[in-house]
Amino acid sequence: MKGIIRKVGSYDEMSKIVALHVKRFIGNSQIGVLGLPTGGTPLGMYKELREDTRLNWSKVATFNLDEYVGIDEKHPESYKNYMYRNLFSHIDIDENKVHFPDGEHYDSRITYFGGLDFTVLGIGNNGHIAFNEPGSSFESTTRLVDLDERTISDNSRFFNSIDEVPKQAWTMGLKTIMDSKEIFLIAQGKSKWEIIREAFYGEITEKVPASILQKHKNLTVLYCD
Ligand code: PGA
Repeated sequence: MKGIIRKVGSYDEMSKIVALHVKRFIGNSQIGVLGLPTGGTPLGMYKELREDTRLNWSKVATFNLDEYVGIDEKHPESYKNYMYRNLFSHIDIDENKVHFPDGEHYDSRITYFGGLDFTVLGIGNNGHIAFNEPGSSFESTTRLVDLDERTISDNSRFFNSIDEVPKQAWTMGLKTIMDSKEIFLIAQGKSKWEIIREAFYGEITEKVPASILQKHKNLTVLYCD
């Protein structure tokens, strides 16, 4: 394990630390390529980022980790809608540089922009990163996947009923993510601590997709209760 695993005092602190690293990255880069997550955990980070009006996003390109299939992009829970609501509508980003996965060409698009520089990840209770569910190949690139039952049940809290949760999604692959030059993974809560232990202190196995991150050269994991 080459990375750093750090427990921080609160959700607020975790959000501020990861946002600070994103801000530094944006401030330092000529053309920065960010990989961005959705879900409950990054909401605090997005609040920090959208409230900093000094940030210049004009040179930044973003690639979201995943997107549901089977719901309209205008649906409040589509990841496109989530990203506009929580970040893009509030900042001066060039919309031509904002990307959501919608096909296997996604990896070439990332390469065209110079590759992912800095990627923020959450982690699923089943060890997924993006929507790379248990059993995903470590060599995987962007593809259409079936969501795991655990993911559907975890994400049903954002929908009126579990039947409304999409069953499929486009996701960056594990190789796509591992090619990012720097990675931050953020997680909150007891059940996430269990999976972090398994992923980062256990065997590197496709049964726990996040475990591949043990091999990443520039990884920081932040965790809070
Ligand atoms: P969460 O999702 O932040 O909503 O817990 C994380 C994930 O599934 O990657």
